[in-house]
Amino acid sequence: MIAIHVLNGPNLNLLGRREPQVYGSLTLADIEQRLRARAAARGQVELVFRQSNVEGELVSFIQEAGLAGAGVILNAAAYTHTSIALRDAIKSVDALTIEVHLSNVHARESFRHHSLIAPVAVGVICGFGAASYDLAFDALVPLVEARTAKTTAAAPGSGTHS
Ligand code: DQA
Repeated sequence: MIAIHVLNGPNLNLLGRREPQVYGSLTLADIEQRLRARAAARGQVELVFRQSNVEGELVSFIQEAGLAGAGVILNAAAYTHTSIALRDAIKSVDALTIEVHLSNVHARESFRHHSLIAPVAVGVICGFGAASYDLAFDALVPLVEARTAKTTAAAPGSGTHS
């Protein structure tokens, strides 16, 4: 069993009513439901889904996920473009992280073109609406499984060392 933590930043609690022409009509609860269905269909994946408007809270969420060996799907929203603290959190706990965005940030204002998270993420998926999260889930699960298998094999007493 592996765990995937889906962490959402500021203003994403307003999805559905927030600029629907940019972010679509699905609510964050709808996105959570889609991912829960995906995790259930996949099996052997525990899904944790969280949102906060508070930067420090997101730091704590990342630390918790990383220290538990969980994978992280992170939509840091506006903090993507500003937060050294979130970037440091990912590095600090070596969290396997995929950065996601609903919108194609590169087709928008130039201040959205730069991400402080991308250099410490495994990859970035943006522009596919709610499907950005689905694609990230599909990409991240095998990576977390592989890392977990490696960590388990390297653990003392795992029987792999003579
Ligand atoms: C966003 C893109 C960010 O630039 C913006 O600040 C958001 C949402 C997205 O999902 O498209 O809040 O992360």
